[in-house]
Amino acid sequence: MTEKIRMTADGLFVPNHPVIPYIEGDGVGQDIWKVAQPLIDRAVAIAYDGERAIQWQEVLAGKKSFEKTGQWLPAETLAAIKDSLVAIKGPLETPVGEGIRSLNVALRQELDLYACVRPIRYFKGVPSPLKNPEKTDITIFRENTEDIYAGIEWETGTPRVQKVIDFLREEMQVEKIRFPETSSIGIKPISIEGSQRLIRSAIEYALKNGKKKVTLVHKGNIQKFTEGGFRKWGYELAQKEYADVLESGNLVINDIIADNFLQQILLKPEAFDVVALTNLNGDYASDALAAQVGGIGISPGANINYKTGHAIFEATHGTAPDIAGQNKANPTSLLLSACMLLDYLSWEKAAHLLRNAIADAFAQQEMTADLANLLDDCPALSTSSFSEKLLEKLDALK
Ligand code: NAI
Repeated sequence: MTEKIRMTADGLFVPNHPVIPYIEGDGVGQDIWKVAQPLIDRAVAIAYDGERAIQWQEVLAGKKSFEKTGQWLPAETLAAIKDSLVAIKGPLETPVGEGIRSLNVALRQELDLYACVRPIRYFKGVPSPLKNPEKTDITIFRENTEDIYAGIEWETGTPRVQKVIDFLREEMQVEKIRFPETSSIGIKPISIEGSQRLIRSAIEYALKNGKKKVTLVHKGNIQKFTEGGFRKWGYELAQKEYADVLESGNLVINDIIADNFLQQILLKPEAFDVVALTNLNGDYASDALAAQVGGIGISPGANINYKTGHAIFEATHGTAPDIAGQNKANPTSLLLSACMLLDYLSWEKAAHLLRNAIADAFAQQEMTADLANLLDDCPALSTSSFSEKLLEKLDALK
């Protein structure tokens, strides 16, 4: 029987056998999905004694899709994800010289997935450049729809950029374009709605997960109305909608300038719980923070619209063409993304089992080459051997 996840007035309704579309992904996507799906299924089966199970539905995107259908992102794929609300995906090869700038961006825009959520935590045993990596436990909320990613840009030397520069100089009395003859121009929109829906999601997440502090990260000292607006509207939202929790001390909102943030996450990562950032700052911070705890091979991510319920959980790394098809890739980023998906469905018990199995493997120095090669005397496991270890651990946790 087909059972669908639905958004209701009371939140997400999740049947016991929900249909969840998956995009296998290109390159290492095929190596890691192959092992991830049985692991997710096993964790769910063990957690709920076989009463719950995901009905996986493959949908196409990326190179695999192009080869089969001639399209990088078929309408059926979008329709299936729209209909099922929740999906998971591996990495996608970005078409070079095609109409779509990025498939990931296209998916986010189509479904208005405004929050990019990246929990960054340390697993014992994983190599890290920090002395005390366990102090890093930060959840990133990156705004996903605005900022320079809106793609409003004109190239130097074109009639269009000249028109914009003329407008700025003549009608807006802008005198500070240093080299007007050779400038390209980019515009970044940052809105009240866009900022507040993201910051609201970050606050709700903090409250739900027992985290106290939400830090607004911005560059408002320089960009007063866009980045500064993000900060200001964040405080206004908190005062208006969360006055009681602020007063009780169960929620603290503060802010920090983006460059100082990048310094403090290295010096004092324990100062942050949940952080809300504009799109570009969030992009930089996500990779910097991921590197602190073991890199992109193990960092999970999700793109979510908390209003409609649409959410795509994804491995955060690319297709890794250098190791694709060699049974070497680390499936952890995808597996931890699946844990986020299970949490999102309120199937936390299954997520917990899978995370514990991963933590246990790392603690025993069982890891794939990307991590093992950074340690002394740590033999690398193949993708399949690492996954077998995880399956054994799951069974042992039964
Ligand atoms: P990449 O993330 O694919 O690779 C960077 C390095 O990390 C490589 O040395 C690779 O071997 C390693 N790596 C990545 N994932 C790994 C894993 N699971 N296990 C072990 N090692 C791993 O980034 P790159 O090379 O810049 O991009 C390759 C392709 O992926 C491009 O077509 C790019 O557009 C696409 N891409 C797609 C993304 C997505 O769909 N979310 C994100 C980033 C890139």
